[in-house]
Amino acid sequence: MKDKSFLMIPGPTPVPESVLLAMAQHPIGHRSSEFSAILEETYADLKWLFQTKNDVFIYTSSGTGAMEAALSNLINEGDKVLSLVIGNFGNRWAKIATSLGADVEKIEVCAGQAIDADVLKQRLDADTDKEIKIVTLTHNETSTGVTNPLKELIAIIKEHGAVSVVDGVTSIGAIECKMDEWGIDVLISGSQKGFMIPPGLAFLAASEKAFKLHEQCKHPSFYFDWSAYRKSVRANSTPYTPAVNLIVALNEALKTMKKDGLDNILKRHARHAKALRAAIKAIGLQLMVEDDSIASNAITSVYPPAGITVPDIRSTLKKDFDIVVANGQNDLKDKIFRMGTLGFVCDRDILAAVGSLEAALYKLGYKFQLGAGVKAAIENLV
Ligand SMILES: Cc1ncc(COP(=O)(O)O)c(C=O)c1O
Repeated sequence: MKDKSFLMIPGPTPVPESVLLAMAQHPIGHRSSEFSAILEETYADLKWLFQTKNDVFIYTSSGTGAMEAALSNLINEGDKVLSLVIGNFGNRWAKIATSLGADVEKIEVCAGQAIDADVLKQRLDADTDKEIKIVTLTHNETSTGVTNPLKELIAIIKEHGAVSVVDGVTSIGAIECKMDEWGIDVLISGSQKGFMIPPGLAFLAASEKAFKLHEQCKHPSFYFDWSAYRKSVRANSTPYTPAVNLIVALNEALKTMKKDGLDNILKRHARHAKALRAAIKAIGLQLMVEDDSIASNAITSVYPPAGITVPDIRSTLKKDFDIVVANGQNDLKDKIFRMGTLGFVCDRDILAAVGSLEAALYKLGYKFQLGAGVKAAIENLV
């Protein structure tokens, strides 16, 4: 049914009507005092969300743009970068670093696992000459639905002295991420996730320590140059023409988030993921991430039952129930389906998704106790 579509993919995510209406207004001049006032508020609210005193830059790009903005402001050719890879997006850091001429080493684990803090510590302890300048890592790996133990990993990187560069694309606004308290040096994110606005903006905050390394970067990116962005943020401006309407939408979304309270937002994500995981198990399906301690509160990856394919499940959910879930990526394509519970999602959405998944599986001939998933979801939500 037109306009009933529910995006349960890990981004883009649903957008509240108040945000859509804010975005639909006529564009205003990006050098006007009116827009400058909006930027002032928005920059302050982004600091609140990133839990940082550092300036948060707004780039007109997708999340990958902010990843490139991070590394292209830090790396000189030949610099040693350690990339912690737990999936597709962790590997993207390694690819970007390689493209910038870095000497990249990876610590890589199988899909569905997180980085082991002891393994990282051992590697960094062995780096007695402090050759490793940068460590890249993903907070929440969207391709698998695993959340790294970020606080613990950052503490280890801090002790070594390298600059930590963190992908918070599907964690900011969904999973606890305390930039200053934990000591993250560079933290990036993207708008189409926990921010409850459409794709098109990306964010980056950098610590003073990261800025010191940036000062040694011989050829920083022009468009993404941190120094230019910092100067502009401090003048409640942007270096170039920004996506004005998306920033107006962001301003509205952040106001809503502040009203809800960050703690409540994070608890809601945790509750939804827990209910969904309980429902999946009650239906008799296998979760990709069975260890609750590393399971994501934003994305749940599920194996299809024997004899039923991922494309069949996805197309039945879409055709019969207007619910869109994501396929697996790369090697995991058609092996898992991924359900996003990220951003503007309420209890009703979880119940509707679980009920619809049951109905789709029932239609596709899977034998299970009908209603078991909904029952488990209700028991975890109410
Ligand atoms: C964890 C993570 N990092 C990076 C990205 C890349 O963001 P984009 O597709 O907006 O460039 C994504 C997108 O899904 C993501 O989930």
